[in-house]
Amino acid sequence: MKLFCVFGNPIKHSISPKLHNSAILGLNLNAMYFKKKIQDKDDLKKTFLEYCLSGANITVPFKEDAFKICDEIKGIANDIKAVNTIVLKDKKLIGYNTDANGFFKSINDFDIKNALILGAGGSSKAISFILKNNNINLDITNRSKEKLNFFTQHNFSTLLHEQIDTNKKYDLIINSTSAGLNDENLPIKKEILEKLFSNAKYAVDIIYNINTPFLNLAKAKNLITKDGKDMLLYQAVLAFNIFFDNQYDETTITKFMKKAFI
Ligand code: ATR
Repeated sequence: MKLFCVFGNPIKHSISPKLHNSAILGLNLNAMYFKKKIQDKDDLKKTFLEYCLSGANITVPFKEDAFKICDEIKGIANDIKAVNTIVLKDKKLIGYNTDANGFFKSINDFDIKNALILGAGGSSKAISFILKNNNINLDITNRSKEKLNFFTQHNFSTLLHEQIDTNKKYDLIINSTSAGLNDENLPIKKEILEKLFSNAKYAVDIIYNINTPFLNLAKAKNLITKDGKDMLLYQAVLAFNIFFDNQYDETTITKFMKKAFI
């Protein structure tokens, strides 16, 4: 039997086991996926090997540590410097980042030329590189300077909130901050956001299952909106495909994983 696991802290809330086990069951595979809270970054590799895992997902706050323990890094994870999927191949840990492509798949039907990302944390890194790789013009804004430095160093266009030109037309505005997750805050001043929304077509919040003030305001402005549920779904679909060596088609995996959301 193949064993898979998601590592994080906290991990109780994770629905990754539900998603993956639903696809494992649907495809009738001899495998199992569970969740494991770890306290320390040093436990990542140790636990992976102790449990004889075939693969793992890594969530907050260990994605940067996961990047460091891999023997080889594939694809966009090299830019983001964070790994959310590890697979064991020929006794080597191979690291991937499926958050980035998962995000892009989730907005597949959007017609975008220019985008603005609010926030400069880990999720913002994944979203920035995938949008840039797909030739979307991008500005990244944050309320404070420190986290913007990574993006400036990687030649992204970065702005503090007060530097935003509210007359600039962004087709898509993305909230990658945690504003609205456990509070009623907007990620940026309401007056600024209202002006940006009046020129925009789409608003995406990567938080899922919560009507955040950001998405509520976007809906009030008649924008097309999306929360983070599809990003979560597609990062799992892509990780599943990595775990099972691309043997199953994405539509089938997606169909089974969607059942787990009900
Ligand atoms: P993640 O890895 O989930 O992206 P993170 O690395 O903790 O999260 O980053 C959170 C981002 O949200 C940061 O850019 C943070 O801004 P600061 O760098 O100034 O701390 C931003 N953020 C968090 N709460 C916010 C709020 N209430 N309003 C605006 N930005 C917020």
